[in-house]
Amino acid sequence: MKKIFLLFQYLQYKLKAKNLHGTHSAFVYEFYQKVIQGDREFYDFAPIDHLRRKLLHSDETIEVNDYGAGAKRNVKRRVKDIAARSAIPAKEGRMLFRLVNFIQPSIMLEIGTSLGISTLYQARACPDAHMVTMEGSPKTAEIATDNFRLLHANHIKQVTGNFDETLPDVLKNISSLDYVFFDGNHRKEPTISYFRQCLSLASDKAVFVFDDIRWSAEMYEAWQEIIREPSATVTIDLFSCGLVFFRKGQVKQHFTLKF
Ligand SMILES: C[S@@+](CC[C@H](N)C(=O)[O-])C[C@H]1O[C@@H](n2cnc3c(N)ncnc32)[C@H](O)[C@@H]1O
Repeated sequence: MKKIFLLFQYLQYKLKAKNLHGTHSAFVYEFYQKVIQGDREFYDFAPIDHLRRKLLHSDETIEVNDYGAGAKRNVKRRVKDIAARSAIPAKEGRMLFRLVNFIQPSIMLEIGTSLGISTLYQARACPDAHMVTMEGSPKTAEIATDNFRLLHANHIKQVTGNFDETLPDVLKNISSLDYVFFDGNHRKEPTISYFRQCLSLASDKAVFVFDDIRWSAEMYEAWQEIIREPSATVTIDLFSCGLVFFRKGQVKQHFTLKF
């Protein structure tokens, strides 16, 4: 059933996706060229690629307490399987790096650390930013800590616990948000709830990135609801993820772009 849903979604995306010729938005045009189409090789990519390969060959097994959609609680999982299934693919991680590099946020939040691969792309793109990343599974978070140490990204602040309990506390200590990566608990209600909680803190230059918007029919419904939010002026569908901008003075517009 999920395969049929994905195939249908993919065909629809392929029919709609454009590469932006003739857009009237100078901002979206520049963003598309520099971030989505960008192919510059940054020197930060090699150590992350190396770390990913190391994790994919790990023989370690850990106990994972996963609160996410479709997962069992307290199961033993091989680190290599977590790296293969949960870590962001390199193409998307590199795009997140360019995105963060483009917007230069002061404060970044990631909801869903796992082993820290996506965290590292984002944190290394803007090392002076204050980065907070959140994870529910303590053993998984410990491996992420080791990975941050290994890649000298000790400035990343980790928060461990169920997002439903930890997110309100994290947000209490943040005055405004420039960047949020939503990549955990892929269900409709929690995704909308985390979005609404972060929305009130979104700065004018903020970008919210939602991963796996087609993970399931209910995740796609959540994405459709997010697009309708009036303060979300520019929204971009890249198939695997969706981007949301809150730039004031911009006409509300949705784009489905080739990536
Ligand atoms: C898809 S993985 C994150 C992958 C990571 N962003 C990357 O690309 O490298 C999602 C993570 O969210 C965590 N998670 C899911 N639901 C959660 C919840 N309700 N509270 C805390 N953690 C949760 C899982 O343990 C999992 O490690």
